Amino acid sequence: MEDENTQHPASVTALDARRVPPLDRLRRPLSDLRISVMDRCNFRCPYCMPESVYHRHFPFLASDERLSFTEVRRIAQIFAELGVRKLRITGGEPLLRPGLADLVADLRGIEGIDDIALTTNGVLLEQHAVALAASGLDRVTISLDSLDPEVFARMSGGRPGPARVLRGVDAALEAGLAPVKINTVVQRGVNDHTLLALLERFRGTGVIVRFIEFMDVGTSNGWRREEVVASRELIKRIDERWAIEPVDANYRGEVASRYRYTDGAGEVGFISSVTAPFCGNCSRARISSDGRLYTCLFGADGLDVRTPLRAGADDEALRALVAGAWRRREDRYSELRAQHPGGARVEMSYIGG
Ligand code: GTP
Ligand code: 5AD
Ligand code: SF4
Ligand code: SF4
Repeated sequence: MEDENTQHPASVTALDARRVPPLDRLRRPLSDLRISVMDRCNFRCPYCMPESVYHRHFPFLASDERLSFTEVRRIAQIFAELGVRKLRITGGEPLLRPGLADLVADLRGIEGIDDIALTTNGVLLEQHAVALAASGLDRVTISLDSLDPEVFARMSGGRPGPARVLRGVDAALEAGLAPVKINTVVQRGVNDHTLLALLERFRGTGVIVRFIEFMDVGTSNGWRREEVVASRELIKRIDERWAIEPVDANYRGEVASRYRYTDGAGEVGFISSVTAPFCGNCSRARISSDGRLYTCLFGADGLDVRTPLRAGADDEALRALVAGAWRRREDRYSELRAQHPGGARVEMSYIGG
């Protein structure tokens, strides 16, 4: 196990010293925190929240089970003191949480945080983009699987679209929540025939489309390997239409592999968790909306942070709890996928992807 004292020179101040991130057992630093603020969603994407499981009697959390904004801020502060620089607000659908812009403003005030992003399905973004930007949100990533209304409906659990989502994209651009990214989950035989049209729509706009290989997150989405379209296949198909070339990552541990159109029309990303796992650089921790800490998207159990928080634990105790969990971490699910099919796994909508 890492000795905290070996990780920083003796001359740094106590606060700076705390900001040297703990390393896990595979020597990966903690640098990002993904915070789920809402386990519910107004969509029922079959690959994430199939209606058959998330029906109207599904036991979603009660509002007092979810962390309050004060509690979220406290946790984020603890992570920032441990070296986290990046926050991402997720759900379910985070914009279902009333007053989300107030939380953004709270998080903005945390010293050391230099990037706050939001992942949303975009349906409510048109009405919230300006307030979110004014509160200090840096950028948004919007899920959009197809521009074809029938395909969109199939992949969202029968929701009408995509016009409202596109208005959300425009609202984000107008509010300056840039770079605006689009996340597109790709399922063979479902939306893979509509991907070039999606790219065409966003080429030249500055919006970055990222294609995500359909993942076996959770245990309720009926994942089948045959439905995964490998990113290398997509890259070939896109390159035949518009020449693309790889670009260096923006930061260590970036999930998406970046490509750019050689004609200057912008950038496309590929998230290849199935065919090219990226666990080696994984620096992300995740907090569920009821305050459980997961050190992997495919984790089975989270560490309960809410109970000590509500019992009055001081900052030092909470830092020790989180840092200890990180130092014990050895997760690399995607690299080991074949070795443990079918095991217990947290659901994507609960942990926010
Ligand atoms: P950027 O800061 O813009 O690079 O964001 P991001 O790509 O890290 O976050 P986003 O919420 O847009 O995630 C995109 C997709 O990648 C989602 O489907 C996530 O579930 C998936 N993803 C993000 N982090 C991980 C990870 O650590 N492991 C795996 N397997 N998938 C991840
Ligand atoms: N496989 C790949 N991506 C998924 N997402 C949700 N479920 C899955 C899955 N099974 C995506 C959402 C969102 C992001 C946070 O995760 O579409 O863009
Ligand atoms: Fe909701 Fe996003 Fe899950 Fe779809 S993928 S059900 S929009 S949380
Ligand atoms: Fe990180 Fe787990 Fe994803 Fe690997 S599978 S990149 S360890 S979250």
